[in-house]
Amino acid sequence: MLSYSTPYLAGRRSSVFYKDILNGLQAENKHLPSKYFYDETGDKLFQQIMACPEYYPTRCEMEIMQHQSAKMARMFAEHDSSFDLVELGPGDATKSWYLLRELQKTEARFTYYPIDISSNVIGWLEDRLPSTLPGLRMQGLNGDFLEQLLQVNTFSGKRKIVLFMGANIGNMTPQQATVFCRELHEHLQPGDLLLTGFDLKKHPRMILDAYNDRQGFTREFNLNLLKRINNELDADFDVDQFEHYPVYDPLTGACKSYLISRIAQEVHIADRVIRFEENEPIYMEISQKYTLPEIEFMAIQSGFSPVHTFLDSKKWFADVLWQRMP
Ligand code: AVI
Repeated sequence: MLSYSTPYLAGRRSSVFYKDILNGLQAENKHLPSKYFYDETGDKLFQQIMACPEYYPTRCEMEIMQHQSAKMARMFAEHDSSFDLVELGPGDATKSWYLLRELQKTEARFTYYPIDISSNVIGWLEDRLPSTLPGLRMQGLNGDFLEQLLQVNTFSGKRKIVLFMGANIGNMTPQQATVFCRELHEHLQPGDLLLTGFDLKKHPRMILDAYNDRQGFTREFNLNLLKRINNELDADFDVDQFEHYPVYDPLTGACKSYLISRIAQEVHIADRVIRFEENEPIYMEISQKYTLPEIEFMAIQSGFSPVHTFLDSKKWFADVLWQRMP
């Protein structure tokens, strides 16, 4: 093991990752930011979650995009066929691909700007999309969503249509989500459009099962963050001593994942010691579920007016189209 005084570890200790992790684990109620789930292994586990039978949101949204992209494309190009299409967190763009293909069939003149915090994602999209969608004008941007959206505003003054799909908004509390939508409002112009994916409230068992799949991919997905901390921050979590514990509250719509310490234990992260009581939880992630009226309320609270709601055939998932109000 390297000595703590090496520049190697000093560099790690000054990283935002290290600060966020320590900040979460030194808090009275321990928590870790779920945005750090997505290292290379986390990305693979998330792919496995999306393919597993219990995790319905991806299939529901895929059905919406496969069957209703043509209508979305018509609505986007209705009054003005020239715009910038900005996607926040596109992943592998399998869902937005249908929309891009439909837009190419219309008169629309648009440039596609996928924005992601992972440069791998952007590189991959720039390699792959032009061959499956010939003629697509695109420019990938790597970094923070809102900062990069400001950047796109400097490239052109065209109307903006922003996509924020995949129920990613569910990984914020309703309050955080409203603040985020208000910030988006600030970065857009009157008349600009926002299409967001929301997972809807449904039978509590369906929701809980989606975050507790039988094959254990979601458990591994959560535990993988502890492994990532071990690898990247020279920590010594014994992941077998933590248990995956998801809960869903049908009243509030909050589905929360915790890791529970099975025993009283100490974990070292670089030169720090974190103590756990037996049964002490680490709050890992929120996946918030909504009703349609709650979504409409959020639109109005954040300065948008609801334009259209695209639902899957089971009415389990909604992609909602909002317009930025003056
Ligand atoms: C990315 N996000 C919308 C997923 C969700 O459903 O909250 C992440 C996830 N966590 C566990 N399973 C899937």
